[in-house]
Amino acid sequence: MSEHIDNLQHEIRRFPPSPEFAAQALATPELYARASADPEAFWAEQARELLHWDTDFTRTLDWTNAPFAKWFADGRLNVAYNCLDRHVEAGNGERVAFHWEGEPGDSRTITYAELTAEVKRAANMLTDLGIRSGDRVAVYLPMIPEAVVTMLAVARIGAVHSVIFGGFSADSIRSRVDDADAKLIITADGGWRKGRVAPLKPTVDAALAKEGEHSVGTVLVVRRGENEIDWVDGRDRWWHDEMAKADAEHTAQPFEAEQPLYILYTSGTTGKPKGILHTSGGYLTQAAFTHRYVFDLKPETDVFWCTADVGWVTGHSYVVYGPLANGATQVLYEGTPDTPHPGRWWELIEKYKVSIFYTAPTAIRSFMKVGRQVPDGFDLSSIRVLGSVGEPINPEAWVWYRDVIGAGTAPIVDTWWQTETGAIMVSALAGVTTTKPGSAQVAVPGISVDVLSDSGEHVGNGNGGLLVVSRPWPAMLRGIWGDPERFIETYWEKFDTPGTKNRRMYFAGDGARLDDDGDIWLLGRVDDVMNVSGHRLSTAEIESALVSHPIVAEAAVVGATDEATGQAVVAFVILRSDQEDAQTPEEANGILRAHVAEQIGAIARPRHVYIVTELPKTRSGKIMRRLLRDVAEGRTVGDTTTLADTSVMQIISDKLTGGV
Ligand code: WT7
Repeated sequence: MSEHIDNLQHEIRRFPPSPEFAAQALATPELYARASADPEAFWAEQARELLHWDTDFTRTLDWTNAPFAKWFADGRLNVAYNCLDRHVEAGNGERVAFHWEGEPGDSRTITYAELTAEVKRAANMLTDLGIRSGDRVAVYLPMIPEAVVTMLAVARIGAVHSVIFGGFSADSIRSRVDDADAKLIITADGGWRKGRVAPLKPTVDAALAKEGEHSVGTVLVVRRGENEIDWVDGRDRWWHDEMAKADAEHTAQPFEAEQPLYILYTSGTTGKPKGILHTSGGYLTQAAFTHRYVFDLKPETDVFWCTADVGWVTGHSYVVYGPLANGATQVLYEGTPDTPHPGRWWELIEKYKVSIFYTAPTAIRSFMKVGRQVPDGFDLSSIRVLGSVGEPINPEAWVWYRDVIGAGTAPIVDTWWQTETGAIMVSALAGVTTTKPGSAQVAVPGISVDVLSDSGEHVGNGNGGLLVVSRPWPAMLRGIWGDPERFIETYWEKFDTPGTKNRRMYFAGDGARLDDDGDIWLLGRVDDVMNVSGHRLSTAEIESALVSHPIVAEAAVVGATDEATGQAVVAFVILRSDQEDAQTPEEANGILRAHVAEQIGAIARPRHVYIVTELPKTRSGKIMRRLLRDVAEGRTVGDTTTLADTSVMQIISDKLTGGV
């Protein structure tokens, strides 16, 4: 990490927005002044300006029961109405909500009027299937319009969705469904990925076939892949049949601002994923505000494309809720960036004249590797703003992104946030900020962050420490589903000042550095959480998947720096003694990589599983992952003096020579 900091300290390039861009921008520097003068009043103003409230709120923030916040608590609104009907009522029904493109090349244009009509029918369908306000609905769908329709229909009736990324395994589905106590799962037969149909319904079947009772009464299936599937009578129903039966008219009822909107599972430092809970009014306010001002969105003329899957928080906030609340026109794409050809994304930008493009550094790096001749073959002149999210973006990738995709002129906004924060927290504003390649820079208006030492002191410019959010924010998580203790422990205890409840700070789990101007540079996670291609994975969860395999005695997992994916999962495993000679290390590597993919999902598949005879442990028995990371990254192994057995690292390094 210190090498990384050194590189960043030498980054002196500066990119102010052009005078023409700044002149037409929605945001002005004055926005910061207004917000910091009175953040609560600022958010109240944004909530009223950006959203429709059926009942206005009288109180903005209730932090008396910190860290359990309530925003706009006595206000009432309907989230789906805000994303749909009101745009139609305002005369924008003919505006395109989505230019949807399937991977095989089929496409569909959906206007706000059409999307509203579909969501109304789907809301009635859910009600007909027995779903009521507060019920949980699990969603396991590809990137097809029905995914968006489902989320909005669930929100419309005050139910709670829990979207599970389509790459997760049957086990992962089952543990999420059980934790959330979901009554209904909405899935598809399959979806298109890399030129073929990837089955989804069979994975749901396998999840529900696992031992023990479950809460799911109905599995609703969208027809997309046309692949063969099994059918459980009485439980399984086709989406198109149920939609055809449902009433077309539906009047949205208002719900309290704190009505739960969704649960989204994310990895933490233990083996069990956390169900992050988001609610309605505050979440929608900040999602809409940041989408508008960070990207300088002009809904009448812009075409916005966020490439994230709706299975991740980025898809929730910047494909569904923020953009639709703002009445934006978007691109929604089902497949992978390089299918059927490596220029597929650029082709879509040209085809739909995308003007604001939001993606992850891992994707940018993979395009860099292929070379600029691919994007250079397309007309990308419609692009005027570029966004980055998911992990720190290295200055080389940043500059390539700006030059090759943004014609050397488009402002780049590097947006730092988390599943927990719900919306963007630290970012440049496209029309205002003079950007620095590699730095996320400043808190967005209305948000307060700080960088603290381990003991809670502000580190000051030029120093590194831990990133905290120092005031409650509208889109903040309201808790971990079913586990208030874990919520407090994970985020609020580290920097709690006893007896001063209102000074509780949110510990994000990221290292950060303040430069001489006070701008923030993110340095990666400081806990046992890895970031692979912008997705969060837990070392403990992968370790427990490994030890669940009968040949494994012990396992340790680290995130090793990887050129393409940011970090890669690397595992060190001790086999059971009776297994040591039963397979070669290469065979064991193959078996265990496949096992992790099957247990958790393909995204968690280790780059390599090394078979070792010892693991480096401290005298108290804690695995020293730092040393394993040194080995995995091919570095000289660091300080081993606190190891119980200092020869262990030598044994591991010797054994792996040539292999790493
Ligand atoms: C973690 C959150 C929120 C979007 C997708 C990831 C890392 C996210 C950045 C950025 C540096 C970033 C952090 C954070 N991260 N964006 N712009 N610069 N790091 O959501 O899965 O909840 O992961 O992603 O480490 O804690 P997530």
